[in-house]
Amino acid sequence: MIRFDFSNLMQDVVGRNGLSEDDFKTIDTARLIEIIDSRKYPELEFLDLPWADISAIKEVGRYARGFDNFLLLGIGGSALGPRSILEALSPFHNLRRSPKVFIYDNVDPVTLSNILEIVDLKKTVINVITKSGSTTETIGSFMIIWQRLKEQSLKPEDHIIVTTDPEKGNMRKIADDYGLRSLPIPNGIGGRYSVLSPVGLLLGETIGINSNEMLRGASDIHGRCMDPDLWRNPAFLFSSGLYLLQSLRNKNITVMMPYADRFKSFAEWFCQLWAESLGKDEKGFTPYPSVGTTDQHSQLQLWMEGPRDKVVIFLSIENYGKEINIPAVFQDMEGLGYLSGHTLSELTKIEQEASEIALTKNGRPNITIEVPTIDEYHLGQLFHFFGIATAVAGFLYGINPFNQPGVEEGKNLTYAMMGKKGFEAKRKEFEQYRQRSGRFELM
Ligand code: PA5
Repeated sequence: MIRFDFSNLMQDVVGRNGLSEDDFKTIDTARLIEIIDSRKYPELEFLDLPWADISAIKEVGRYARGFDNFLLLGIGGSALGPRSILEALSPFHNLRRSPKVFIYDNVDPVTLSNILEIVDLKKTVINVITKSGSTTETIGSFMIIWQRLKEQSLKPEDHIIVTTDPEKGNMRKIADDYGLRSLPIPNGIGGRYSVLSPVGLLLGETIGINSNEMLRGASDIHGRCMDPDLWRNPAFLFSSGLYLLQSLRNKNITVMMPYADRFKSFAEWFCQLWAESLGKDEKGFTPYPSVGTTDQHSQLQLWMEGPRDKVVIFLSIENYGKEINIPAVFQDMEGLGYLSGHTLSELTKIEQEASEIALTKNGRPNITIEVPTIDEYHLGQLFHFFGIATAVAGFLYGINPFNQPGVEEGKNLTYAMMGKKGFEAKRKEFEQYRQRSGRFELM
């Protein structure tokens, strides 16, 4: 099991920047349990994912495995989860294994052109992931790919797999009308909470990752995250510790710092979850992704001596699964020789602890989550743990952690300028602002 060390959040360790046990008395765990048990939000359905039947995902995965390339079209929660699975569990994937995976999750003509130059569509399966079925970025790239398939006389039903709402939306309609393979994202589950649904698991199954192990990991940590005793519940401690540090000690930034390149995308997945879920009603905690040891030489100075507004979350890896010894060369040079006889995992682990101790000594609160090893089982635990902890943080802030009303205005303005019906008034508004701000005048 992943293990948690919250001691460096506490006053007796980090001094006045930390919390006392009394501070936690305001946390009403019975209310949190009640919100969860009563399923106050239908989106809490993500809690059931560890026990879902994944036989249909496996079957579609077997089909997708027959192609040379797997091209994923999606954005936000429809891309960050799959990418973190790919990078954590199959590093350097495209240089080693097949199908090669391409995740196109932006609007960038250069990236898509490059992908289309590299992949042969005849040998490519395309997974379009969109819960709503109306996300401009995803729909736009889907339309381009659809046309390219047609131009090459390829049958969309052979090449496209749709992951979308079971009943509603444009992509559900297209999947049904054209007889495309499709996988449903369960009703209540929204993008950033969907990694353990077909959204993440189909890619996993396609590249030979054991989804059952991921779900077993999630189910094994579930009970601990539902414990009504705050001091035994890591999800409640994580969310309430951070919530209290913000409301009582003015910490506003959460740094996610795994000590593993394989977790870089995981850190980005966490940042989306934390930001989009909590940033509402002028509340929220700004997350940013980082990686150890690299960012010790980039960000650590700021965390040590800059504003006292951050909480660093270390993900430390107990067993990297591979080892490299630092050889006994340059023994006569003191500046190098001291490293001989040590290993790379020893060095990175010591550096993680050293950063933790340095921050702690300087009164900078931090949390360490120890991951026994990077595999399906523990990744499943991390996904489920952070899903629960984020939802619970939302309940503590008194906001709905499952919606994202703040992104609607930008979407509507985009619809307007791209000519979507019903948005004519927004178009006027867009043009007025454009003129008023003068930002398009070259200097
Ligand atoms: O977390 C979310 O709900 C969002 O980030 C979505 O994942 C993102 O906007 C893409 O939405 P959709 O899957 O509907 O295309």
